[in-house]
Amino acid sequence: MKLLSVESDDAFMDAAATMVMRRVAERPDLALTAPTGATPAALYRRLVREHRAGRFSLDAATVFMLDEYVDLLTYPVGSFREYLAKHLGDVIFNATTTLHTLAPTDDPTQCAHYDAALDGVGALDLAIVGVGGNGHVGFNEPGTAPELRTHVVPLAPSTIRANFAHLEAAKRPSSAVTVGLADLRGAREVLMLISGEPKRHVAQLLASERFDADVPATYLLEHPNLTVIVPSALLER
Ligand code: GLP
Repeated sequence: MKLLSVESDDAFMDAAATMVMRRVAERPDLALTAPTGATPAALYRRLVREHRAGRFSLDAATVFMLDEYVDLLTYPVGSFREYLAKHLGDVIFNATTTLHTLAPTDDPTQCAHYDAALDGVGALDLAIVGVGGNGHVGFNEPGTAPELRTHVVPLAPSTIRANFAHLEAAKRPSSAVTVGLADLRGAREVLMLISGEPKRHVAQLLASERFDADVPATYLLEHPNLTVIVPSALLER
């Protein structure tokens, strides 16, 4: 595991953007995942800027959304699809990028189609993932079997609280659909972005390469080509 412990938000974004841009330059037709959340937002801002300047493109790439809420009453508002459209815009929502999106449904045929699309690229070239406060990656919550592929998952109560503090309880989604740990573990390379105080414990487990069966992100520790980017402040104490 390669640990990049960075001193500032700018350094975090630079490290992530440099790696993504390098991989895309090496292989423009790569297959990658696009995570959501506050953590990758600065990376996406930079990629959009580079795209506008003509220095970066995902036109030949295949992009997989990592996850989506299933029972989001406000859909598409608040969805991960909306997030990606807002943060990556026509970098991926264009006529040439092959973009695989997840609809807000628990229909098992969607999972089967997603797995078939993943099979179609052989393996992900670059799995970019964030982590939740409980160590989830995508929406592979604690307790998820590491051999699962795309599946529907009940959200952990802590995830619902963390992601929907602004919504009254009755309106909060309770399930999601996510790419499984199997495809993330089977990727050629994994880039894990960890930021935010609630992730301190997870960051420290990763940095010290300690596996914990209750922290899904640590299943990726065994990956031969894993890079973790984390603010140095989260590794103190
Ligand atoms: C959601 C997503 C995860 C993401 C996590 C962390 O729960 N399912 O894929 O990593 O949010 O988001 P943030 O970066 O906002 O802490």
